Amino acid sequence: MKKTILTGLRPTGNLHLGHYFGAGKNYLKMQNDYDFYLEIADVQALTDNFDNPEKVRKNIKEITMDLLAIGLDPEKVNFFIQSKIPEIAELTVFYSNLVTVSRLQRNPTVKNEIAQKKELFGNNGESITYGFLGYPVSQAADITCFNGELVPVGDDQLPLLEQCREIVRKFNSIYGETLKEPEQVLSTTTRVKGLDGNEKMGKSLGNAIFLVDDEDTISKKIMGAITDPNKIKKDDPADPDVCMVYYYHKLIDNPNLETVCSECKKGARGCVACKRELIEKMNEFLKPIKEERKKYEDNPELVDKILEDGTKKAKAKAEEQMKNIRKAMKIDY
Ligand code: TRP
Ligand code: SF4
Repeated sequence: MKKTILTGLRPTGNLHLGHYFGAGKNYLKMQNDYDFYLEIADVQALTDNFDNPEKVRKNIKEITMDLLAIGLDPEKVNFFIQSKIPEIAELTVFYSNLVTVSRLQRNPTVKNEIAQKKELFGNNGESITYGFLGYPVSQAADITCFNGELVPVGDDQLPLLEQCREIVRKFNSIYGETLKEPEQVLSTTTRVKGLDGNEKMGKSLGNAIFLVDDEDTISKKIMGAITDPNKIKKDDPADPDVCMVYYYHKLIDNPNLETVCSECKKGARGCVACKRELIEKMNEFLKPIKEERKKYEDNPELVDKILEDGTKKAKAKAEEQMKNIRKAMKIDY
């Protein structure tokens, strides 16, 4: 029996290099060996974007196409839409009795996000909704509704997984051994830095290269990337280790990396030429991904079918699991 993997992505924008190296490459490796459920978490996306449903709706297909473009195989991965599985919402309600409000407020991921919102909206957190505070509960339902055993996530998500395990233990101790405690699969690649040198590449940080960026956009973005600030003239020697351009040469495995490094250190390469080389290599790197994506852009009905089929399989699995859960809770009337 293959183990079950479940992971989710919020459909709030296209995938960027951070997603690809931080998560996508891991999914590609895992898709062969597991029963893989990939949730397009529209309900979770709405906790932050309830006033912008159009954005969430549009990005369901966008993100699915991005995932297909990087090489995920719909025969192996069940892509499904969270809102099409009402069992998840049902389970969220049941779990909401098993977790205290203060525990949710202390969850480091939630705490961070609340701090960011306070900064953004400049109030004392009055804008925090019940739904937002509860999204870790809903995420626990996402995972356990499918009996998810392995959950590939970035390290920022670990507190959410810990919260899920607590809910599972609480559930099992009250209603009898029913649910499995999921384990995290930490990404083997590290977090990808942004064009501005920020530790994290992020859409909201405005420092990301998206897989769908066209050549002009890539060119502009790379031309603006942070280089060694001590290099003023073209032939000044510099330190590639503090340069984002070098960082991306390395990230996408430029076979010419040694030369880039030694020429930079010797002052034998100008930053503009170095950026031009990266632009070319970046375009080459993204080309097969864009070609694969085009197949789906030209045939959007293929994407609909993939989501429909994956959702059907996910629904069957969730229905099965909910039977066990309702029985354990003695509400299987
Ligand atoms: N919270 C995750 C994120 O923001 C997305 C997500 C939703 C998820 N449901 C999940 C991740 C279930 C893992 C398992 O990236
Ligand atoms: Fe960065 Fe290249 Fe300039 Fe060196 S030459 S600082 S690696 S852009």
